[in-house]
Amino acid sequence: MNKKELIKEIKRLKKEKKAIILAHNYQEPSVFEVADYLGDSFELAKIAQKTDAKIIIFAGVKFMAESAKLLNPQKKVLIPDINAICPMAGMVNKKELNKLKKKYPEATIVCYINTTTETKAMCDACVTSANAVKICKKLPQKEIIFLPDQHLASYIQAQLPEKTIIPFQGFCEVHAQASEQYFKKAKAKYSQAPLLLHPETPKNFWQYADAILGTGGMINFVKKSSEKTFLIGTEKDMAERLKLSFPDKNFIPLLGECVNMKKINLENIYQSLLEEKYEIQISEDIFEKAKRPLEKMIKLAK
Ligand code: 13P
Ligand code: SF4
Repeated sequence: MNKKELIKEIKRLKKEKKAIILAHNYQEPSVFEVADYLGDSFELAKIAQKTDAKIIIFAGVKFMAESAKLLNPQKKVLIPDINAICPMAGMVNKKELNKLKKKYPEATIVCYINTTTETKAMCDACVTSANAVKICKKLPQKEIIFLPDQHLASYIQAQLPEKTIIPFQGFCEVHAQASEQYFKKAKAKYSQAPLLLHPETPKNFWQYADAILGTGGMINFVKKSSEKTFLIGTEKDMAERLKLSFPDKNFIPLLGECVNMKKINLENIYQSLLEEKYEIQISEDIFEKAKRPLEKMIKLAK
């Protein structure tokens, strides 16, 4: 099938099977053409929790689909490529966490949504980049063990000096590979353009940023700004996502590609809908434990 036929078939199958497609902002523009909702990881989790569709197809990475399943256990949640994983989610090791727990017995444990279900089951609260500061501020404990992203942990610490954020050593390879030289060049070339930076980017890049935001926050920033050109300090296709909402503005990507996000495409979305694969399964013994921090996030983010 060519692209046009694939899109037509996907739309027909969605209707027939009462399915919705949730697409993360880093997906390729062709995926946006069949998506019912586009969003950041927090926005998509909230939509997943509320939908009455029978099937949720997650165009994103596995932890996002798992979060959708945890928040809406009655639904069938499918991911078109089971190998679309976030490497950072796999950077938590239980031994290291136990060491930190022993060293900081008063600390609460907060995880980024970019974690496996097994990790979530060991945590008290979950956050995304859209609500991390707000939620950590609301938690009564002064000490917070934060996993796995060390850079988001530094960002939270800088915003909340009254807290002690104890970081894990995880990182996102897309954001950690940012080039300072490239940032400097872009800043010099587009001197008027605000630079929007994702908090997964290391601390030494903060000095170039006009705002540090998750992907949903970037969309809101552009909406409110009268500027015409923006430098986008996150995964490269975020520039395409912004162009879709703001066709009259220009977006210059500063970072590389998340290869895992790009494993989802129209062909595997079609196969996923047709054969109802790959279904997210979560073992019963951790389901309730892993669901709690996500529900707490949604409650505290209000
Ligand atoms: P957002 O929640 O800001 O969309 O970020 C998700 C992510 O994986 C960033 O790399
Ligand atoms: Fe994970 Fe980084 Fe890809 Fe986001 S961009 S899904 S944090 S690897």
